Amino acid sequence: MKRANLDVTIIGGGMITHDLILPSVYHLQRLGRVGKLTVCALNSAPLRALIDSAELQQAFPGQSFEAEPSLSEEPTRMFPCLYEEILARQAPHQAVIVAVPDQFHYKVVKTALRQDQHVLCVKPLVLTYDQAHELEQLARDWGLFVGVEYHKRFDRRSLMAKRHYALGHFGEFAMGEAKLIEPWYYRHSNFQKWFTCDKTDPFVYVGCHYVDLVYFITGLKPVALSVSGVKGRFPNGNEGYLWSNGRVRYENGALLSVTDGLGYPDDAAGSNDQGLLMYCEGKNGGGMIEHRDNDRGVRYSFLEGIGCGGSKYNYVSPDFFRLVPWEGPGFKPVGYGYESVAAHLDAMSRIEAETDGLPDEAALARRRELIDEIDRQGLLATPANSFINELVVEAARLSIVRDGAWVDIRYEPRPHVALRTA
Ligand SMILES: NC(=O)c1ccc[n+]([C@@H]2O[C@H](COP(=O)([O-])OP(=O)(O)OC[C@H]3O[C@@H](n4cnc5c(N)ncnc54)[C@H](O)[C@@H]3O)[C@@H](O)[C@H]2O)c1
Repeated sequence: MKRANLDVTIIGGGMITHDLILPSVYHLQRLGRVGKLTVCALNSAPLRALIDSAELQQAFPGQSFEAEPSLSEEPTRMFPCLYEEILARQAPHQAVIVAVPDQFHYKVVKTALRQDQHVLCVKPLVLTYDQAHELEQLARDWGLFVGVEYHKRFDRRSLMAKRHYALGHFGEFAMGEAKLIEPWYYRHSNFQKWFTCDKTDPFVYVGCHYVDLVYFITGLKPVALSVSGVKGRFPNGNEGYLWSNGRVRYENGALLSVTDGLGYPDDAAGSNDQGLLMYCEGKNGGGMIEHRDNDRGVRYSFLEGIGCGGSKYNYVSPDFFRLVPWEGPGFKPVGYGYESVAAHLDAMSRIEAETDGLPDEAALARRRELIDEIDRQGLLATPANSFINELVVEAARLSIVRDGAWVDIRYEPRPHVALRTA
């Protein structure tokens, strides 16, 4: 596959940037698949933390990034619009990774597209269907790629399930349950500033991974849902939904129950609790898919508690993201988290490489063809092939603030959500 070497700007320097995005991009950079790297945050404090991270220094010796704002700025001085200047300075058709809190995704992704940049956005892309559709159209008009980082799609177990489901080996999905309970310590993180009742909830934050996955595996569209929440206070006094339970109805009548929260005990072995169970029906018997996603059979007992939760005894998942020895300096990232980031950046470089040197009109036509191909293939999540997620998120927000009122998702004459009144 032909590839161009794109510059990458990461907007947002928080947890997901530290744990997944930056190490993935650092590795691609030392493999020669990424050019210049910039990270832009609201203030210099998180950027200083990224530069000083012992884990990142150990894994990527000698590598760094251009910090915006500069590390010499006061850690508390805020630069909410600096990303606009950074994007305006970037050469066209490079890569932007958006990793800011959910409610800013729309504005930042749109700004990046307006500056002629390809975009990879952490999930959920945006919070309404109309916004997703608008971004899809903008990107299409200008021949730009937008990907959404639903990395569970790259987990081998998801890919296996998708293949067997398509071959009819399970029958048809009828009843299932998914859960993703993140650690208690999240309550003490930056989350307490933005994870408030009016903005988001655990269903929208992590439940969306499994809703996307069931759609990815089965192709079944959700047609209605109800989400209820349990409210509580963060240490700074802000009120958030700390737990949620949702029921999603699918077009074939199937039901998925989704339980999420920020409360997995820090002392437990998790480091979170997550999994998916799907019962299916064939002509003469039942099929089943069961993924225990937190316990993948590897257990460590450390001398001292390590990691943010700090527990000594841990179920260690080697599958999502780990730094391991390799043939080069430091450690390399392995796992479906890394593979997902790499696949999105590779898609952007392929689009650039295959259109390099073509006259403008031919290049635009070819860009659109390549983006259509990615949309149809359905492996990388794009606004065109994952918009059910925005409908679900939009419906979930309507439902949770009404304590579980049912909300219908309709696809005709155009996709929209509607509070059930009768
Ligand atoms: N498993 C996953 O896919 C996964 C996991 C964690 C987070 N996420 C998503 O990643 C996003 C960020 O989550 P996080 O946990 O890293 O949050 P965080 O609060 O740790 O970090 C947010 C970052 O955004 C930056 N930011 C905010 N406003 C900005 C602005 N105007 N300009 C530049 N930077 C700005 C902040 O400086 C901070 O560095 C959320 O959308 C979240 O849903 C996805």
